[in-house]
Amino acid sequence: MSESGDMAVAITEVGARDGLQNEKVVVPTAAKIAFIDALVAAGARQIEVGSFVSPRWVPAMADTEAVFAGLTRRAGVRYLALVPNLRGLDRARAVGCDAIALFTAASEGFARANINQTIAQSLAAFADVAARARTEGVALRGYVSTVFACPYDGPTRPEAVVPIVEELLAMGAYEVSLGDTIGVGTPAHVARLLEAVLKVAPADRIVMHFHDTWGMGVANVMAALEHGIRRFDASAGGLGGCPFAKVATGNVATEDVLYLLDHLGYRTGYDFAGVARAARALATSLDHPLVSRANKAWRDPLA
Ligand code: HMG
Ligand code: MG
Repeated sequence: MSESGDMAVAITEVGARDGLQNEKVVVPTAAKIAFIDALVAAGARQIEVGSFVSPRWVPAMADTEAVFAGLTRRAGVRYLALVPNLRGLDRARAVGCDAIALFTAASEGFARANINQTIAQSLAAFADVAARARTEGVALRGYVSTVFACPYDGPTRPEAVVPIVEELLAMGAYEVSLGDTIGVGTPAHVARLLEAVLKVAPADRIVMHFHDTWGMGVANVMAALEHGIRRFDASAGGLGGCPFAKVATGNVATEDVLYLLDHLGYRTGYDFAGVARAARALATSLDHPLVSRANKAWRDPLA
């Protein structure tokens, strides 16, 4: 990779999905739309809009069609949604979704709690979704959850993650995001996992998805950068968590990651102030303050 390519980092903004799926208050659809449009204006080029999952399982994502309908879609931006099955793909296609994310886990306990399937059942079902997505021109992203530990089964071995990554790539995923769903990983976990995963997958197809429960999110981003990873998921304001992993807090905050990357000289295409303002505006619909340390520290010159 060229030096300039090596300094480019792609951040997928997941706040409107991973963040808002877990909020206790109902965030109005209009506030979600404004949040996503503002994040795109601030530089997001790949952004999760919501999920086409069972509304009984995740009520907060039930308005994903309405969110898509209200967006001001910009050329060059990939608007993503989580999809668990063919029904989800149909819903995604109906709103002109560019890319879908299929999601499974590296531990059976979480797969059962999150999608009510074994890992093998989920991958078999995904093969059908992936085949149809391919013929219909919908791009495919993959997620593997619980890559370091599972709230039900305990620690996860890297050897459990590797074959799932291989399978998702073989199905046609353009990238696979490795989720520390409960936010317990440290740079030591990151190093162990990436040493195994990068034997079977190139670094530019691997994304790291850190939750910040133990405050290791930014340190883990740094560790992954040192292993050549240039793709991360993050959520504006540090929103997030998973309804099926109660011990988890939000994703590593986009602002916190930007503060690190900007000062290390990486190029993300994001404007810190725009992200911070988008998160602050969204926070007026929430019942708690934002957790992003960088957002709290920042004084808005326009305020
Ligand atoms: P199930 O109950 O085993 O399956 O759920 P089912 O086929 O019996 O469906 C149950 C109900 O959902 C039925 O409706 C279906 O019609 C409906 P009912 O008859 O009860 O009224 N249904 C759907 N409705 C709308 N869209 C669909 C759809 N599919 C079924 N696509 C299922 C299985 C997978 C559907 C369910 O478990 C589910 O929706 N799970 C989603 C869980 C989820 O979204 N979790 C959060 C995202 S994952 C995450 O946060 C981790 C991540 O951030 C990475 C990390 O941090 O590790 C990505
Ligand atoms: Mg997550």
